[in-house]
Amino acid sequence: MTDLASVDYFSDADIAQNPYEYLDHLRNQNPVFREPHYGVVAVTGYQEAIEVFRDAGTFSAAISIGGPFPPLPFQPEGDDITAQIEANRHHFPINEHMVTMDPPNHTRTRALLAKLLTPKRLKENEEYMWHQADRQLDEFIANEKCEFLGEYAKPYATLVIADLLGVPDADRDEFRATLAGHERPGSRVGALDHEPVGLNPLEWLDNTFSAYISDRQRTPREDILSVLASTTYPDGSEPSIIELVRPATFLFAAGQETVTKLLSVAVKVLAERPEYQQLLRDDRSLVGQFIEESLRIESPTKVDFRLAKKSTQVGGVDIPAGTVLMLCIGAANRDPRKFESPDQFRLDRRNSREHIAFGRGIHTCAGAPLARAEGQVTLNRLLDRIGDLAIDDSVHGPSGQRNYQYEPTFLLRGLRDLHITFDSKVRAA
Ligand code: HEM
Repeated sequence: MTDLASVDYFSDADIAQNPYEYLDHLRNQNPVFREPHYGVVAVTGYQEAIEVFRDAGTFSAAISIGGPFPPLPFQPEGDDITAQIEANRHHFPINEHMVTMDPPNHTRTRALLAKLLTPKRLKENEEYMWHQADRQLDEFIANEKCEFLGEYAKPYATLVIADLLGVPDADRDEFRATLAGHERPGSRVGALDHEPVGLNPLEWLDNTFSAYISDRQRTPREDILSVLASTTYPDGSEPSIIELVRPATFLFAAGQETVTKLLSVAVKVLAERPEYQQLLRDDRSLVGQFIEESLRIESPTKVDFRLAKKSTQVGGVDIPAGTVLMLCIGAANRDPRKFESPDQFRLDRRNSREHIAFGRGIHTCAGAPLARAEGQVTLNRLLDRIGDLAIDDSVHGPSGQRNYQYEPTFLLRGLRDLHITFDSKVRAA
């Protein structure tokens, strides 16, 4: 039996497969508790995590992805290290992307994205989602079985973002092959071997989009990339090409693996629980709730990080400036003080949607509406087009003795693969 008190969360392979017992153990010590190996303060309580997410004045996002890896590029001094963080910005991994920025740079950069994600664009993108779901299903439906991540979820999530950004049709196969075919750039982020995060893992995308934007600035057309090419900051000043490109390309990093993980957990629950298939087929209005409960019970972003800029307290615990806080989203969403019987998937749970799978505060997920729509479209199309969805026993073992493998990372929570079987004859709803 694992000795939970001595576990190294960041490198323990068993904990990566089943983190919840350990995260419960931490919360039982205290919802705000310092783990012994790296001095990281784990926030496993729901209210406490929200408190930190919402206080961008006290907590910096500079380390939001890497947490304690690599270690801080300076020795924290005194009760306010804001100036030290600013002087060392360029040393932090992924520092060129908004997720690690603090105001005012974060505010300016996020405003560029808001100009791109207009209601009109999101609506067009949703129309594409329905078509793409069908095309994707057409590729394997006759086989009456598939490996859901590789054959559906990964290419689907990639192509939806490519469409959102207006990647020309002729280039989409290359995007699919480059981004959904093998490890995405930066997918080693959070790997258990602590390999430092590359400083610019999204380089391929940056180069590709820089070429698109330069072309559209020379010769504007009637397309989304031309809209992106002419976007300005709220004060009217003009961003450089790379400042335009990065908020766009970051969407691939933020929205591919996370959506893949959401779709696969939702389909896994649906395949494990046939009673839900009938229920959802009969009442499609329940699909939204099913997605929310999937996000709560297996939050794709398992943990997120903040750096205390100033000495403070969280949940009554002293937090000196320079402390790395690990906001355990997956644990906060199973906090029994907030969610009754938190380890059970319950379609009738009244407060599922209050989960914090998309974070809170100024960095709240910019793609949450997209992710939710991808979940809704996917489940609805599966319910429309296939029956008797089941887990493939020949791969995952019989019911009661299943064998599922999860990605071995401390950052994300998601299946490595999901083999399902189904009946391809359409059932009337
Ligand atoms: C189920 C799927 C998803 C989950 C669970 C998820 C989760 C998150 C979380 C927890 C954050 C906050 C990070 C922080 O505060 O440090 C975040 C930020 C972000 N997400 Fe998502 N995300 C998902 C899908 C997407 C999609 C589809 C897109 C876009 C295509 C996207 C774009 C972003 C962006 C741009 C940010 C950074 C926002 C900022 O820093 O202001 N996400 N996401």
